Amino acid sequence: MGESLLTPARPPFPRMGGVLHCGPLALDDLVEEHGTPLYVYDGDRALERLRTLREAFAEAAPGPPAPGPLATRSAAPGLLVAYSVKANPNLALLRLFARAGAGADIVSGGELYCALSAGFPPGRIVFAGVGKTRDEMRYGLETGIRSFHVESAQELEALAEVAAELGRPAPLAIRVNPDVDSPTHEFTRTGHAAAKFGVSPDVALLLYARAREHPLLHPVGVDVHIGSQLREGGPFLRALDTMLALAGRVGSELGIDLQYADLGGGFGIADAEAGELDVRALGREVASRLRGRALGLIIEPGRFLVGDAGVLVTRVLYLKRSGGKTFVVTDAGMTELIRPSHYGGVHEVTPVREDGHGGVEVVDVVGPVCEQGDFLARERRLPLPSPGALLCVHQAGAYGFTMASNYNSRPRPAEVLVHDGRAALVRRRERYSDLIRGELG
Ligand code: LLP
Repeated sequence: MGESLLTPARPPFPRMGGVLHCGPLALDDLVEEHGTPLYVYDGDRALERLRTLREAFAEAAPGPPAPGPLATRSAAPGLLVAYSVKANPNLALLRLFARAGAGADIVSGGELYCALSAGFPPGRIVFAGVGKTRDEMRYGLETGIRSFHVESAQELEALAEVAAELGRPAPLAIRVNPDVDSPTHEFTRTGHAAAKFGVSPDVALLLYARAREHPLLHPVGVDVHIGSQLREGGPFLRALDTMLALAGRVGSELGIDLQYADLGGGFGIADAEAGELDVRALGREVASRLRGRALGLIIEPGRFLVGDAGVLVTRVLYLKRSGGKTFVVTDAGMTELIRPSHYGGVHEVTPVREDGHGGVEVVDVVGPVCEQGDFLARERRLPLPSPGALLCVHQAGAYGFTMASNYNSRPRPAEVLVHDGRAALVRRRERYSDLIRGELG
């Protein structure tokens, strides 16, 4: 496919008339209505990113995904883009993806509940995670999800037991640990041998052999997920090569024809530090490796779909100069967005309204939480804002709200979705009463 056919890039949250917008709506107008801190999502951008990935990987696995678990092979094995729900499980966003025909990558019973509530067909849901409980397996089997991504020998036995108890077949893929180095923060690297995820190719082969012996275990795929916010294609391709070699052995040594290879998620996006993964180049390389094989492809993007489709808008409370530093104290911090302090995430921070005042200074943007590790940006050049000004923290659509907490007894923020030129409050701001809801003391 020529590059000209790909969806043209459109910068999310453009500045118009000096003010940041989401689609046609000014962020300060949204704040006027909904207050701060406020998460704002651009639904059109999220759907555009889905199209970008579909186009980039179209050649790798032509055609739509097979309709469900244990589906008979179609002529074209197809591509399934399974949105990684953990990145942002807001129902309104999930519904957009479900309606657009995406699948869902889940890691818990709770995510299965959210995905089903949003209308994802069970046949498009894949279930990963090293610690699935038997209850979660039951839930997945009863609802008929496409596949369980099994991560250990004991998990496989548990799945066999639950399948037998329910008398239902369990479609599965083994998650392989390809032992590749994926250059990203150590907390989000999952494809090296010492990670808790997946099993070595040799162990995987044994697990496929075990599954073949069990009447209710149905091996349908092979799976990897090597990390998050990866900007180089090489580690993905090395992981794919490991999967393909394994799929070959599973076929030749065990006589099992797998239906799909799942490359996982982890496609990196641009932030204040660096640009994004070239997904078109990756798609071309994946296509050349899959050519001539009757294997479908699943990818599990989270951040790539929603990361830059969301921002966190926060209000400046105070400016403070001490110890030779300038602190911009905002009403959002690690409780709303933990990525800067937990993963060294470097989100762009820009004023919502360019007012032409304050000269540019190097500042720390810090939150109100009583932790020295509570910051949104450090040593950042920023036009010095006045108290009351609004700041926009970009690339906050993934692993933002979903990792927000009530620490310091702070109510979690509201979420607004802009789609088709209209804004909808899709989660109301928490109230103080929400903080003690569920307490029985
Ligand atoms: N598939 C599996 C099995 C995963 O564990 C993950 C993410 C994904 C797909 C989606 O990865 P993505 O495309 O979003 O990179 N909280 C961290 C990221 C943790 C990622 C966990 N697994 C952060 O804020 O950087």
